Amino acid sequence: MPHLSTKLAIVNEEPKPNETERTLIYTAKSIVLVALLFILCSLIGMSVYFWKDSSGQLKSANTAAVAAENAKAVEKVNLIPTDAWKAPEESTIPDNEYGNMIRYGRELIKNTAKYLGPNGSVARISNGMNCQNCHLEAGTKTFGNNYSVFFASYPKKSARSGKMADATERIADCFQRSLNGKVPELSGKEVQAMLAYMKWLGSEQEKGKAAFGSGTEKLKYMDRAADPQKGLLVYQNKCQSCHGQHGEGIKAEDQQAYVYPPLWGAHSYNDGAGMYRLNNFAGFVKNNMPFGVRYPDAQLTDEECWDVAAFVNTQPRPHKEQAQDYPDRSVKPIDAPYGPYLDKFSEQQHKYGPFTPIVLALKEMESKSDLK
Ligand code: HEC
Ligand code: HEC
Repeated sequence: MPHLSTKLAIVNEEPKPNETERTLIYTAKSIVLVALLFILCSLIGMSVYFWKDSSGQLKSANTAAVAAENAKAVEKVNLIPTDAWKAPEESTIPDNEYGNMIRYGRELIKNTAKYLGPNGSVARISNGMNCQNCHLEAGTKTFGNNYSVFFASYPKKSARSGKMADATERIADCFQRSLNGKVPELSGKEVQAMLAYMKWLGSEQEKGKAAFGSGTEKLKYMDRAADPQKGLLVYQNKCQSCHGQHGEGIKAEDQQAYVYPPLWGAHSYNDGAGMYRLNNFAGFVKNNMPFGVRYPDAQLTDEECWDVAAFVNTQPRPHKEQAQDYPDRSVKPIDAPYGPYLDKFSEQQHKYGPFTPIVLALKEMESKSDLK
């Protein structure tokens, strides 16, 4: 291989550096090495510095976020005014016969089915639901359809019947409608115990005074009608896991009461019940469902509440004859789902909205009749 040997020859022919040149090259190499080391060190140093700095920044960003969260929490706590309604202390239940009535009343609200359901031990007059399924935490929860102002507002004229009504008749209403059952004996021990409990609950409530957090929250009306199609999606995503694909709920092992109560079908509230009205349903869901939600930490938007209310209340349920309801049409709630009405809006619009045009029309009628 002559080629290679020539190359080798050429390499070999390079002049050999002398002693001074070698020292020079050696020094140059060292300088380059030191410079490289210096650059490397400063790079490491700088990155450590910046890393530290940015983590410091991260830290302060985190602190800011936590502070903002805390501020929000404080703001939310502030949304519940200090004079909001609260149930009286347990210790205020007297330690006597009357106190026992109060306690029995509370037990009946919590476990209605056990005593008065289809297999009830006292009477069999209702559908298996408990009052507490809708009046949460035995009727004590803020915006959980509580009994705060109930006792203080009776006796009063019932808009639904048009007659002066006693508090016991209002209790009976929920038996007939919400529990799709029979009227219990109004002077009987059970109704009287429930009444004693509600009286105790409302004992710090002044008559005629509105308490913050009472009943359920009244949601703002939407500009459009509530939409059952949109409500179906809310139902599937947020409700179905507990209340079931067919709204049938899930019964407890002993088959007495429900773990998850039904929202429609044969065992649910009938179409004469308060929950069948969109305002009540949407307002209830807002601060209470999915189960565990509490004011002011609602999970659903108002729109989702209206739409899911429309969906659930288009599903089949027991019927209650209600031609006799609201003889005075001027006090009929605008979302009462059955006519006749004072205005000319359709039954459909009264059931699903939009409600604002109805409110405005009724106001105008009222101001005209005031002028007369
Ligand atoms: C399916 C849900 C549901 C169930 C179950 C239910 N209720 Fe109600 N109840 C309501 C709704 C909704 C209202 C508010 C209705 C309205 O304003 O028209 C209401 C209102 C009441 C009120 C009037 C409260 C007030 O401040 O004026 C009383 C009293 C009452 N219910 C008692 C009972 C009792 C007792 C039971 C059990 C036997 C019961 N409810 C079961 C939904 C229910
Ligand atoms: C994690 C389970 C769970 C989810 C999810 C849930 N619920 Fe409930 N719901 C309950 C329970 C439990 C009760 C009864 C509460 C009690 O007895 O204390 C209830 C009660 C109700 C009631 C009153 C009682 C009745 O049967 O009529 C309505 C109305 C209701 N839920 C609607 C909804 C809607 C609408 C959604 C979806 C936005 C929803 N729930 C999601 C568990 C759930």
